[in-house]
Amino acid sequence: MNRLKLAILISGRGSNMEALLKAAEDAAFPAQPVLVLSNRPDAKGLETAANAGVPVLAIDHKLYGKDREAFEREMDKALSDAGVELIALAGFMRVLTPWFVTRWQGRMINIHPSLLPKYKGLDTHQRALDAGDTEVGCTVHWVSAGVDEGEIIAQAAIPILPGDTAESLADRLLPEEHKLYPRALALACERVRG
Ligand code: GAR
Repeated sequence: MNRLKLAILISGRGSNMEALLKAAEDAAFPAQPVLVLSNRPDAKGLETAANAGVPVLAIDHKLYGKDREAFEREMDKALSDAGVELIALAGFMRVLTPWFVTRWQGRMINIHPSLLPKYKGLDTHQRALDAGDTEVGCTVHWVSAGVDEGEIIAQAAIPILPGDTAESLADRLLPEEHKLYPRALALACERVRG
C-alpha cells in the first residue's frame, strides 16, 4: 500500500504527535510521517521525533513579527519540499490564516480538547466545569477557515467526576486523545485517497 506522506505540526510537548508516530510504526498504517514541524524551536516534541528518526524542522514564528503569511509561506515551502500530502496539527498553537487553510483544505486535520461544537478556543475544560457539564472530551476535525469549526471526524468523551479540576480532566483526557487521533487520522486518509 502507498502510504500518505504525513507532516505533524506541534508547538510543545508533542504527546499526540508521539501517539501518531507510534501508530505509524505499523507498516499497515495508512500514513507515513515524513516531517515534524514546530513553530517553537524549544518544543520538547522535536527531540522526541528526532529520537524516533523522523525529520524535524523548527520555523520560529517570532522571526516573522506580525506577518503571519510570511511565516506560513516558509512552512508551506518545507511541507511541499517534503512531499507532504496530509497535515496533522497536534497541539499546534498558532491560528492559521485563510491563505494557508485554503491551500491545505481537505488535507489538514486537528485535535481539539473539547466536544466540538462546544468550547472552541482555549480553556476548554474550565469552561466545561463552569457550565456544569457532566463530561468533557476531544474532537478530531478537518481544518476549515473558522477556528475549530471544520467537519468532525471522530470524538471521545470521559465523565467529569466530583473534585475534578481543569488539570485533572486534561490529564485523564490525554490518553483518550492518544487513542482517538490515530484512529481519526486513518479515517482522514480514506477520505484523502477518495
Ligand atoms: C492536547 O491536549 C491538544 O488537544 C491540545 O493541546 C494539547 C497538546 O498536547 N490542543 C489544543 O488546545 C489546540 N487548540 P501535546 O503537545 O502533548 O499533544
